[in-house]
Amino acid sequence: MKIARFSRVGFILAAAGSAVGLGNIWKFPYIAGEYGGGAFVLVYLLTVLLIGFSIMIAEMLIGYMGRRDTVSSFEELAPTKKHLWKFGGFQALAGLCIMIFYSVVIGWIFNYIVTSFTYLPATMQEAENVFGSMLHSDFTTQFTYHTIAFLWITYVLNRGLKGGIEKMNFFLMPALMIILGGMFLYATTLGAFSEALHFMFYPNFSKINGEAFVTAVGHAFFTLSLGMGAIMTYSASLEKDANLVKNAFWVVFLDTAIAIVAGLMLFTFLYQYGSGPAKGPGLVFISLPAAFYEMGIIGNIFAILFFIALAFAGLTSSVSLVEPMVQYFIDRFSWSRLKASVLMGLFFWFFGIFAILSNIDGAKEYLTWGSKNFFDWVDYITAAIMLPLGGLIMAVFVGFIIPKNRVESIMRPQLRWAFDAWYFSLRYITPVAMFVVMLSLMGVL
Ligand code: PHE
Repeated sequence: MKIARFSRVGFILAAAGSAVGLGNIWKFPYIAGEYGGGAFVLVYLLTVLLIGFSIMIAEMLIGYMGRRDTVSSFEELAPTKKHLWKFGGFQALAGLCIMIFYSVVIGWIFNYIVTSFTYLPATMQEAENVFGSMLHSDFTTQFTYHTIAFLWITYVLNRGLKGGIEKMNFFLMPALMIILGGMFLYATTLGAFSEALHFMFYPNFSKINGEAFVTAVGHAFFTLSLGMGAIMTYSASLEKDANLVKNAFWVVFLDTAIAIVAGLMLFTFLYQYGSGPAKGPGLVFISLPAAFYEMGIIGNIFAILFFIALAFAGLTSSVSLVEPMVQYFIDRFSWSRLKASVLMGLFFWFFGIFAILSNIDGAKEYLTWGSKNFFDWVDYITAAIMLPLGGLIMAVFVGFIIPKNRVESIMRPQLRWAFDAWYFSLRYITPVAMFVVMLSLMGVL
């Protein structure tokens, strides 16, 4: 089957569009806040640098060499035990699972874009009430916007790789960077900017426990879109002479830079006008709108622009979360793109309804198990378990299964002296590090 090819810039924008998402702007600031800032940020940055970057290259390589959907690529590249290794490709299912809550959050963002035109909460208390009542009692609003997100994503996927995904990223990614860049520059002029710097970069290790560590490592995978075949699927459409190292560098760089910029900007606003780095997923939905209110009219403009940027980030990631499974059904079962896009869309739309219900009073009691409701379980299982596991599978696959001479013939010319270090990291550093994370996750450490 002939696969459409990305243009050079198109690939970087699409892969960066996948990486830069709700993870960077919604999740990163609040978990950094929850775990006390600096030390957490440090663990996250080290994971990105030491493990994330090398797995990014490995995942790109599997896609680039395999040239097919994730399952077929694994199958084709495994010299023996194909029937076993092809299951590596089913990691792509994690993307659909992530979409279950991802689409719901994009729905919240759509709602906040609309309401920010006319309203911002005057106090933290009011902001909490507004968010809380949407979350706990307003099923209709969440359902409506979740459905709009589903329709948008399905529409773009159906338009295909070039006419849909590449095109959307081509417009939305620059727009997102301009909006965030502008707001960041404004934040640097405020007095609280230095407090934000201190919070993000001064490591206070007393706040770091096992859970913080696992969350930081899991987040590094989540934010780089690693471990579920999104980057792999896009890389199947790379040009023949593409430089994977350069591409990986740009994606990692843009993703990290945007997370830091967004974090510094949000914490500056929260210190200057609000309540400091408040805790929990409500950070951008509760504390931030209240801080924007304090800014006066410019706050309204900022709020609208900020939520638009957040929606753009979420939408460009969403298409990459679903495309691997779409590609799988097109490639292996000769489904039409329309059929594949609609059915995959319906999957996350349907389960998304339960993610909404799991926060709604009267229903949530039936959708909560242990300390987490359905929404939180999906988030936790995908980000903290499935993605790191997928990353591990990819590292081992490239490090041990694909014959070394095949890997070397492509990667040595691109990595030159760093080839051995990269290969060593895939074989030994990543598996050991991931093993430690898995153990601490299971409560063994
Ligand atoms: N990287 C995206 C984010 O930060 C989420 C994502 C994960 C996208 C895995 C694709 C694959 O929001």
